[in-house]
Amino acid sequence: MEKLFVSTENKKYPIYFERNFDGLMEACEEAGFSNGKICIIADSNVGKLYMNKAKDDFGKIFSEVYGYEFQAGEQSKNLKTIMKIYDFCAEKHIDRKSVIACLGGGVCGDMAGFAAATFMRGIKFIQIPTSLLAQVDSSVGGKVGVDFKGNKNMIGAFYQPEFVYMALDVLDSLPEREFAAGMAEVIKYGPISSENFLNFIEKNKEKIKARDKEILKEIITKCCEIKADVVSRDEKDTGKREILNFGHTIGHAVETKKGFELLHGECVALGMKAVLNICEKRGYITKEIVNKICSLLSFFGLPLQTSGITAEEVYKQMFLDKKVKNNVIRFVLMKDFGVLKRTGNVNKEEIISAINNILR
Ligand code: GLY
Repeated sequence: MEKLFVSTENKKYPIYFERNFDGLMEACEEAGFSNGKICIIADSNVGKLYMNKAKDDFGKIFSEVYGYEFQAGEQSKNLKTIMKIYDFCAEKHIDRKSVIACLGGGVCGDMAGFAAATFMRGIKFIQIPTSLLAQVDSSVGGKVGVDFKGNKNMIGAFYQPEFVYMALDVLDSLPEREFAAGMAEVIKYGPISSENFLNFIEKNKEKIKARDKEILKEIITKCCEIKADVVSRDEKDTGKREILNFGHTIGHAVETKKGFELLHGECVALGMKAVLNICEKRGYITKEIVNKICSLLSFFGLPLQTSGITAEEVYKQMFLDKKVKNNVIRFVLMKDFGVLKRTGNVNKEEIISAINNILR
């Protein structure tokens, strides 16, 4: 099977790139799983589509297979759902030799991963990302957690999976809006890596929209290569990993202030436009670069403007983010493709003006 490895200080694990679930049991065997119990966690949408199939497949390797479903949506990503997962695991006698499988998008991966990181002080888990966003970003790198008191990912851990298994064909069942949200994270890899990557997306945008698997595989593999490289150098997000947050500083605050009415990827698109505005105003990048990135976001149906919130309240919300260090808001600025400046030195005036740039 085609794979690439993520190496962190204490762990090396594969990401598999397959079309369907046929190789999943081989991946389990390679991970050394046999007998024992597995608890598959999925949201109500993904559960409907894939839970039965996953249960049948895992039944070939595990002696006991359980499935837990929670209500789909970011609104479920909280400690209440985690408590329900703990209850379920305790009831099924999930033990330290058991495995948790996160079958779903970013919300499921973050939350089921957090349950795995904390249940019995940590049991093994695997990521089976079913959304584009999860495949190119959240399933790789071990960030797990939940929202708390309306603040995005405020409670969490770094906890790496045993493997990540991508089945590209599942992207066919993804609603249009979710697919577009994933494209925001894909496009993010342009500014943080190279113009060539952005040009590749530009050249193949129609095929991507039509969900051509060959092109999608190239793109997803490239994103995972970049992410694996960054995570391998800075697993705990104390330095270089910050670049993966390009567009997220303002994006996360917008996501929270909009009451999670917009998808994460949609807010990343808005956040990227805002930060590009700062970079352009500083003379780091040209208007052409801003337009090139924004027109691609727009092509995939991502928002470049929003309403119903004020710049001041978004600014205030930014201080509650994990990216704030010693009360200083951290930004990733683009000086050129692949040339980034990680800084806390962006003043309020620049930030407010950038937020206003995405408000109607
Ligand atoms: N999604 C950003 C990171 O994994 O660091």
